[in-house]
Amino acid sequence: MPKMKIFLDTADIKEIEEFVITGLIDGVTTNPSLIAKSGRDIKEVTKEICALVPNGPVSAEVTAMDYKTMMKEADILRKIADNIAIKVPLTFDGLRACKTLSDDNTMVNVTLCFTANQALLAAKAGATFISPFLGRLDDLGQDGTDLISDISDIYLNYPEFETEILAASIRSPKHVSDVALLGADVVTLPGKVLRAMYTHPLTDKGLDAFEKDWKSTGQSIL
Ligand code: E4P
Repeated sequence: MPKMKIFLDTADIKEIEEFVITGLIDGVTTNPSLIAKSGRDIKEVTKEICALVPNGPVSAEVTAMDYKTMMKEADILRKIADNIAIKVPLTFDGLRACKTLSDDNTMVNVTLCFTANQALLAAKAGATFISPFLGRLDDLGQDGTDLISDISDIYLNYPEFETEILAASIRSPKHVSDVALLGADVVTLPGKVLRAMYTHPLTDKGLDAFEKDWKSTGQSIL
């Protein structure tokens, strides 16, 4: 059975360090907005992220709109480390860049996917990952999980597609369980959603009671 992967959706080194020690993190995704938020140089911060998750893909996004410049940027970004996945937008030029890069054995994450047909084209272009954006569809009053379901059904019809579904724009733990139920291969999460996934008031309440009762025994396991 395939294992569901968890990526961190951040360019914040401290946040990545906070979670990698759990062994739960399989990769990292960044984008131009996350790089801007980090206040860091894209090449420097991306190199540091790649070193923190050496066994997982780290998505670094091109910023150009045209194929030729996208390829120039991708050539620089993919030299940063062996675990770089080049992120390209779901446009004509992005799909063209995806095909060239995947034919050249570079991992590609096709981003800003909002329809099943876009995902179909990304798979045809050899994408390693397709990133459907759930939260942004929900913001428009649509159901982002329907998109994951449609992409999953389409990919299952064509076993030659090797593209993994990377659920992105995740805003809540509910999004995570919804896409896990639909069999998404990967989910990329902001740290706050990951924290919310393991936190529960009844867990905290139960622990308080255990601590109190344990103290009353006067025992020590150590
Ligand atoms: C990840 O690859 C995406 O860039 C990210 O999940 C977008 O999330 P947002 O819609 O919360 O900005």
